[in-house]
Amino acid sequence: KRLILIGPPGSGKGTQSPIIKDEYCLCHLATGDMLRAAVAAKTPLGIKAKEAMDKGELVSDDLVVGIIDEAMKKPSCQKGFILDGFPRTVVQAEKLDEMLQKQGAKIDKVLNFAIDDAILEERITGRWIHPSSGRTYHTKFAPPKVPGVDDVTGEPLIQRKDDTAAVLKSRLEAFHRQTEPVIGYYKNKGAVAELHAEKSPKEVTAEVQKVLSS
Ligand code: AP5
Ligand code: ZN
Repeated sequence: KRLILIGPPGSGKGTQSPIIKDEYCLCHLATGDMLRAAVAAKTPLGIKAKEAMDKGELVSDDLVVGIIDEAMKKPSCQKGFILDGFPRTVVQAEKLDEMLQKQGAKIDKVLNFAIDDAILEERITGRWIHPSSGRTYHTKFAPPKVPGVDDVTGEPLIQRKDDTAAVLKSRLEAFHRQTEPVIGYYKNKGAVAELHAEKSPKEVTAEVQKVLSS
């Protein structure tokens, strides 16, 4: 399957991705995770992306399209993939269509993580992540066994630099202005499935499974 996960910051894309990935043996391509790894490693890409990310603005289309083009060529992505956080502009969606056309492939489903903005601040400010595995926790909704420590490796958890109430405001603004039109783009193609992303993680997983098995 070739899936796109679209939704505002904190809507649960990164939480559901590993579950879908394991169930359908897909590769998980999260542009945010890839960009954060590039920033941490201070690669030329990371240096270019950092300023926009810190402000909660989108990185340029050319940079992210380049990352995805490269990543989709991996043998592990040939059977199918989950795009988490891409495409985020209509230009990115058009470029993705071009890439897929070359491979004779197409997107099967776009999962729209629909949720009210008001819920997101608590989700974002309580999030803790284990950077090397991408595992995500929440102080209230998904606490680790030991506070600040990854359940599996025992390594320390960190908070994302952009997970503050102030930066969330710009991220939400970017979502409404630049990314919502992408949902319209795919609605015209009839590929969008709506999820109730305000429900519990388990309930959202059940909705995803229902959509993907139909
Ligand atoms: P990115 O990393 O993609 O961030 P985002 O879109 O803002 O999304 P998040 O990762 O914040 O949310 P999520 O939906 O994954 O939430 P999660 O499941 O973790 O992008 C970061 C930046 O990179 C962008 O601002 C931009 O600068 C740049 N960028 C990335 N892609 C780009 C692109 N294509 N073009 C241009 N720039 C790009 O959940 C959040 C918290 O809530 C967790 O703590 C979790 O435990 C908890 N939670 C999850 N689900 C539930 C639930 N159902 N109930 C209760 N709690 C829940
Ligand atoms: Zn995420």
